[in-house]
Amino acid sequence: MILALETSCDDTCAAVVSPEGRIASNVISSQGLLHARYGGVVPEVASRHHLELIDAVTADALEQAGVTLDEIERVAVTRGPGLIGALLVGVASAKALAAARQLPLAAVDHLHGHVVASTLGDDPIEAPYLCLVASGGHTFLARVDHPGSYEVIGQTLDDAAGEAFDKGARLLGLGYPGGPELDRLAREGDPGAFDFPRSAPGDGLDFSFSGVKTALLYAVRDMGEHQAQARRADLAASYQRAIVTALVARTAQAVGREGVARLAIGGGVAANSELRATLAERAAELGVRVWIPARELCTDNAAMIAAAARFTEPIAYPGYLDLDAAARLAA
Ligand code: KG4
Ligand code: ZN
Repeated sequence: MILALETSCDDTCAAVVSPEGRIASNVISSQGLLHARYGGVVPEVASRHHLELIDAVTADALEQAGVTLDEIERVAVTRGPGLIGALLVGVASAKALAAARQLPLAAVDHLHGHVVASTLGDDPIEAPYLCLVASGGHTFLARVDHPGSYEVIGQTLDDAAGEAFDKGARLLGLGYPGGPELDRLAREGDPGAFDFPRSAPGDGLDFSFSGVKTALLYAVRDMGEHQAQARRADLAASYQRAIVTALVARTAQAVGREGVARLAIGGGVAANSELRATLAERAAELGVRVWIPARELCTDNAAMIAAAARFTEPIAYPGYLDLDAAARLAA
C-alpha cells in the first residue's frame, strides 16, 4: 500500500492507495473558509494550518483505509510546484514517516498527479492518452505515452483557467474560492447574454485567458455596479461559457492532431459542471472516450499523488533525508 501526502496549496490531504490503483482512503481537509476572509490563500496561514492538521489527516487516512503504518510499503509526497512553506510541511512529514520505518519515498510532481488521476479506480485510463489539466496555477494539454511521464503539447500563455474563474468571481463580488461559486451562479444565467472572447492564440495548442478576464472587467465597469449586480448570473454564465468553449475547442483540436483515442481531464477546473458536460458531448462527437474523474479527484487530493507514485521510481532509505521541496519544478 502507498501512503501519500499533498500540501502544495491550501488543502491538507492524505490518502492510502493500493499498487493497482484502488483508493482505500482519500482525506481532504480544506482550509478554504479560513482564507475566504482574505479573498485568497495566505501562504503563511496555509503553512501553519498544514502543520496543525497533517498528523490528524494522516491518521484519518490510515484509519479509514483500515491499515496501520506497518502495512504501508511506500510513502509518496508532493515535492512541487506550489507554495514553498506549504510543500515543506508535507515533505518533512513524509520523510519522517518513511524514515521511521526505512520505507522508500516517492517525490511527486503535483501536475503529474493531476495528469494521472484517471488511472485510479475500477476503470483506469490507459496510455496513450491526452489530458487537459486546468487548475488554479496551471492550464495545459499533455500527451501521455507512458503514465510515468507526460509531454506538454500546449499551455496557457498568461492566466490559468482557474485563475480566470477566481478573478472573474471576484469581479462579480462572489466569495473565495471563486470557481465553484461562479459555477453555481452560472446555472441561473443566460450564457448567450454577453459575447466574451474565446481566445485561441497562435496556430498551436496554447491558451490565453487574460483577454476574457479584461472583457469582463470592462463589461462590469461600463454597466455600473448596480446593473452589474442585477445581471450577475448572466455575466457569470457568459463568462464561464467563454472559458469552457476555449478549453474544449483546444482539446478537440489536440485530439485531431495527436490521433489518440482516449482523453482525460484533471485539475480543479475539471470539477466545473459545464466543462464536464461539454467535454463529454464533444468527445462523443469526436468518437474518443473521455475519463472525467470524480470531483474530489479533480481538485487537489493525495490519491492522485499516490497514483503518480505508482509510476515514479522511489528513493530508497536514507537517500531522501536531504530531499527538498521546490516551489517550481524544472520542465
Ligand atoms: O487543482 P486545484 O484544486 O489546485 C491547484 O493545483 O491550483 O485547482 C483549484 C482551482 C481554483 O482556481 C478553483 O477556483 C478552481 O480550481 N475550481 C473551479 C471549480 N472548482 C474548483 N473552477 C470552476 N468551476 C468549479 N466547479
Ligand atoms: Zn492542483
